[in-house]
Amino acid sequence: MNYDIAVVKGDGIGPEVVTEAIKVLDKIGEKYGHTFHYNYVLAGGAAIDATGKCLPTDTVDICKGSHAVLLGAVGGPKWDDLPGDERPERALLGLRKALGLFANLRPAMVFDELADASPLKAEIIDGGLDIVVVRELTGGIYFGEKGTKKTDMGPAAYDIEQYSEGEVKRIAAVAFDMAMKRNKKVTSVDKANVLESSRLWRRVVAEVGKNYPEVELENLYVDNAAMQLVRNPKQFDVLVTSNIFGDILSDEASQITGSIGMLPSASLATGNFGMYEPVHGSAPDIAGQNLANPIATILSVAMMLRYTFELSQEADDIEEAVKKFLAAGYRTPDICAGKESIGTKETGDKIASLI
Ligand code: NAD
Ligand code: IPM
Ligand code: MN
Repeated sequence: MNYDIAVVKGDGIGPEVVTEAIKVLDKIGEKYGHTFHYNYVLAGGAAIDATGKCLPTDTVDICKGSHAVLLGAVGGPKWDDLPGDERPERALLGLRKALGLFANLRPAMVFDELADASPLKAEIIDGGLDIVVVRELTGGIYFGEKGTKKTDMGPAAYDIEQYSEGEVKRIAAVAFDMAMKRNKKVTSVDKANVLESSRLWRRVVAEVGKNYPEVELENLYVDNAAMQLVRNPKQFDVLVTSNIFGDILSDEASQITGSIGMLPSASLATGNFGMYEPVHGSAPDIAGQNLANPIATILSVAMMLRYTFELSQEADDIEEAVKKFLAAGYRTPDICAGKESIGTKETGDKIASLI
């Protein structure tokens, strides 16, 4: 089979980690006789530098015309002073919206071999951790009305959090469907004690939950959820939450696994189309030094194989290769916990060789 993948390398460590993920994907192609065709497109800071625009129309068109999108990360200090709608991050939001990617799956798994890299005590993550944050990705405060106005305390700025029943219904259905294939528990995270939008969220999630009698539904306020994630993360199976809460809680969950450099994500539209990207950002502090952990992006490619291309054996192969890599004692600096470390490129080479 031939597969068309639009590739946004992006900024900072984006190009470094994407290069390694493609190396691994090509190895899968060789092993199974698939041809992956890469359409390289610009978005973010690199696009601003080359074209003056953070999200050129061509990029959106080519992504729409591909089977899936692979994205590194966008943004960096060079573009931090641009107005909000011209910043690199706006390109990412624009792509998510234009491609209808409302469901963001962010699995957080502690590999046994990395138990010592987690900042949590061994007994808290004993026996491993396997949770998934289902983050709503095209609504909420990220996309609500925003603006500035005068107040008696001086100029003010605002961003409105808004959710419609339809938006909550479809993300809740994704979470319950996922729970049915896992441990049959959904924890919906909101701030329903304060926010009107959260009260609607909680009501609609409960309505959707009625179609899944086998799944246990629990509601938590986001402040409690943030605390519970470090107190006892193993109580969770699927967490479903809004765009902004999901952004924050998934970074928190990532650290439990040892490093944000380990966390992949899939951003899905209705149907099989998806964009795959690590949860982390462009890490300007380590960019260009062969220090970045490419595993999050490599595991994102495994998610692409599983969700968009429905190639589960191939996806398993990548996840197995990552496990073998860790079991053999190889570590990038972010997860080395006192052990000797290897570089970004060497990590990609090694994982590809284990396929
Ligand atoms: P970040 O995730 O880029 O970095 C946070 C910390 O984690 C840094 O110390 C970094 O070195 C480390 N880190 C991140 N990824 C790593 C990896 N693969 N291997 C090893 N260490 C890693 O978050 P930030 O510093 O808040 O943001 C930097 C820039 O990235 C900003 O411009 C931000 O807007 C952007 N950003 C982009 C995305 C995205 O494109 N999806 C996501 C988050 C942040
Ligand atoms: C992420 C990032 C983005 C987000 C930014 C860069 C727009 O933090 O993908 O987690 O907040 O969604
Ligand atoms: Mn984030």
